[in-house]
Amino acid sequence: MSTAEKLHVLFASSEAEPLAKVGGLGDVAGALPAEINRIAEDHVDIRLIIPFHAVIKEKNPPVGLIGSFPIKTKTGQSICDLYVTDLDGVITYLLDSDGINHNSPIYYGDATLDGRKYAHFSLALLEAMRFIDWPIDVLHANDWHTALAVYALKDLYKNDPFFSQTKTILTIHNLPYNGYGADAAMTDLGFSPCSDPDLPDWARLTPLPVGLATADRIIAVSPGYAEEILTPDYGCGLDGYLRLHLDKLSGIVNGIDLEKWNPETDVYIGHPYSIDRLHNKQLNKLDFQREIGLEMNPEIPMLTVVSRLDFQKGLGLIFDALPDLADQAWQLVILGTGAKELEQRAQEFAAAFPDKVVSILKYDNALSHKLYASGDIFLMPSLYEPCGLSQMIAMRYGNIPVARATGGLKNTIIDFHASPERATGFLFEEKTTEGLKTTLEMALNVFKNKQIWYRLQRNAMSMDFSWKQSALQYLQIYQELSQI
Ligand code: ADP
Ligand code: GLC
Repeated sequence: MSTAEKLHVLFASSEAEPLAKVGGLGDVAGALPAEINRIAEDHVDIRLIIPFHAVIKEKNPPVGLIGSFPIKTKTGQSICDLYVTDLDGVITYLLDSDGINHNSPIYYGDATLDGRKYAHFSLALLEAMRFIDWPIDVLHANDWHTALAVYALKDLYKNDPFFSQTKTILTIHNLPYNGYGADAAMTDLGFSPCSDPDLPDWARLTPLPVGLATADRIIAVSPGYAEEILTPDYGCGLDGYLRLHLDKLSGIVNGIDLEKWNPETDVYIGHPYSIDRLHNKQLNKLDFQREIGLEMNPEIPMLTVVSRLDFQKGLGLIFDALPDLADQAWQLVILGTGAKELEQRAQEFAAAFPDKVVSILKYDNALSHKLYASGDIFLMPSLYEPCGLSQMIAMRYGNIPVARATGGLKNTIIDFHASPERATGFLFEEKTTEGLKTTLEMALNVFKNKQIWYRLQRNAMSMDFSWKQSALQYLQIYQELSQI
């Protein structure tokens, strides 16, 4: 089949591993298009586009400049530079301009600055495809950062023949982050407020809701989250809109990259291991205990956290629950960075329990591999969790999750309470310290029973978290959309 006959899919994201990653969205954009490319190369031409962030420039990947083109603003125009590189076999465009802001961080953490950066990126990515004359059949946008590209097709470009055939998918990775604060940038770029009567008024110049209102399909990153966001507790003011548009909403659970996350071949750990060589996992734990100055003892369960330090992750439950279990044997290692007050709490917690707790406040990929490999129990008491990749990675390393029964955690962890024989972890329902404490206590008890613990590890390590199933589901949607 010739290139001309292939379906053109543009996957737009704010981050993509290994070029730029802050959290799970980076993992997804770094892996999903590549998997789709592998399984459907003969009929789908999927390409990725992300901003040319400063952090990418520092890595100095091999890139080629394609050329420059303008986008119009109310006050003049902004010149965009389009580069191309390769990401695991996927043609990957890197976009830069004054509006995207040349040397900016991936996220400023400031609503106005991020609003401006991503409003510009969203428009520029569409113009980039016009510039290279690559008509888009399916635009696959992700989260609020690229939601305005979806909206632009129904607002600014509604009569533009170049985009007349373009269908859209918007994947929700994190609903509370909706881009509120981008209204000034949107107005400057000529967007009009979304007039959909089903949207609440605050949402009319807010990127994620206007994208949801105009996308052909909405995908949440797990079936569990797709259900939860229909409720006022998780719907962030958009549950009403979503309940009215159930026909275009569904959930597809993420996968993980099984090559990057493989305890048998992991270059970041001293003692590779598998289900049949779990004694090597203990050697990793002993090395790591020595490295971070904790007592070297395989019998002490090591609790681990690898996480953005964000309200979402329920870390307060850990800081509140663990002191009540202080008389039991455990060690806790936290690897994370994020909100200042949570970083401070993590530091104070380590200072209060110097023999038990180590907090490492940074983003460190190599170290994260060591934590997954050395840990016995992976704590993830998230208040909400659209999908979660960390628990899947942890299970692949035989590091058993203790997690809240929410979103994707419910879809990926088989709970010990419900099914002890098949279990891969422990789930608790309540958003309370007591909920975590009771379930963690249970896990600590089960840990003492080597046979049952081994069964949990074997079950967890045998789970299939590959990207294949998700990729096939997205492919089916691309194909359905292209036939409308
Ligand atoms: P989220 O996207 O909400 O941050 P996920 O569980 O989907 O949560 O993905 C988190 C990803 O980021 C995982 O790959 C995890 O290993 C990685 N990660 C989080 N914090 C750190 C850190 N401090 N250092 C290294 N990797 C991290
Ligand atoms: C988000 C969510 C996380 C999800 C990730 C990738 O950041 O918080 O649950 O796994 O996106 O979809």
